[in-house]
Amino acid sequence: MSKEDRLEKRLREREYRYEREQRYLRKRSELDEVLEEVFDRRTLMTIYELMNRGQIKDFYGVVSAGKESRVYYAKGGKGEDLAVKIYLITSAEFKKSRSMYIAYDPRFQRVPRDFRDFIYLWARREYRNLDDAYEAGVPVPKPYFVRNNVLGMAFIGEDGKRYPTLNEVELEAELYPKLYSQVVEAVKKLYRGARLIHGDLSEYNIFITPGDEIVLIDLSQAVRIEQPVADQLLLRDLKNVVRFFGRMGVEVPDPEELFEEVAGRRPFEVS
Ligand SMILES: Nc1ncnc2c1ncn2[C@@H]1O[C@H](COP(=O)(O)OP(=O)(O)O)[C@@H](O)[C@H]1O
Ligand SMILES: [Mg+2]
Repeated sequence: MSKEDRLEKRLREREYRYEREQRYLRKRSELDEVLEEVFDRRTLMTIYELMNRGQIKDFYGVVSAGKESRVYYAKGGKGEDLAVKIYLITSAEFKKSRSMYIAYDPRFQRVPRDFRDFIYLWARREYRNLDDAYEAGVPVPKPYFVRNNVLGMAFIGEDGKRYPTLNEVELEAELYPKLYSQVVEAVKKLYRGARLIHGDLSEYNIFITPGDEIVLIDLSQAVRIEQPVADQLLLRDLKNVVRFFGRMGVEVPDPEELFEEVAGRRPFEVS
C-alpha cells in the first residue's frame, strides 16, 4: 500500500469513527462519495506533507461539509486543537464567482489562469486575511498554516465541539447590545487596523463563546478597503449586522450611518 493510500485509509477510518460517535445519520455510501470529492490525489499529498512536517498530527471529524470546502477538527503538532479547512478542487464556477474579490488586491497582484492555482491563491488569501486581522487584534481564529488548498487555524470550541454561531442560539435580551458593540468594534478594527472588509458578515459567521465573546470566522471573501468592491461589501455587511441586532431588540442606526462611523466617510464617497 502506498503512503497516500495508507493515509487515505486512516483518514477514512477516523472519519467513520467520529461520524458514528456523533451519531450522524448519514449512510456510509454517501459519505464515501463526499470523501472521494475531497481527497483527490494532490489534496491527499498536501495533507500527507502537512502531517509529515508535524503541522497536523491527527484528524478527527468533519465539522462542516460545504459545497466548496470541508472543515475538520484536527490536532496540531503540539496537540493544539485545529480547524483544518480544505477547499475542494471542483467546479469552474468557483473561479468565475470569486474573481471580483481578488481583483485589485494589492497583496496579490497576479490572478492565476489555472483553476487549481486559483483555489490555492484563494486559500492563501484567506490565510493572509486571518493573519492581518489577527495581528490587528480582531477576534478571529489564529491562523497556523496554509499549503495549497489546505488551511489550518485555531479551533473555536471545546473538546472537538465548535461553539455556536449567533444564528444558532437564543441569548438573554440584555446580552445583545453588548454583542452588537463587540461586532461594531471588530468591524472597525478590521477596517482601520487590517484595512479589510469581511465581505460575508452575518450571524452565520459570528461565533459566540461561553464567556460571551464574539469570534468572526470565514474571512475567505474579505477584501482590502481600496478594492473597487469594498464599499458595496462593507455596506452589505453592516446591513446584515443592523438587521440581525435590530431584530434582537437592539437600538441600531441606519447602515449608512454605521458605515460613516466605521469608515469615517460616507459610502461611495471618495475620501
Ligand atoms: N476555526 C473554526 N473553529 C471551529 N469551527 C469552524 C472554524 N472555522 C469554520 N468552522 C465551522 O465550519 C463552518 C464552515 O466554515 P466557513 O469558514 O464558514 O466556510 P464556508 O465558506 O463553507 O462558509 C463554519 O460555519 C463553522 O461551523
Ligand atoms: Mg461560513
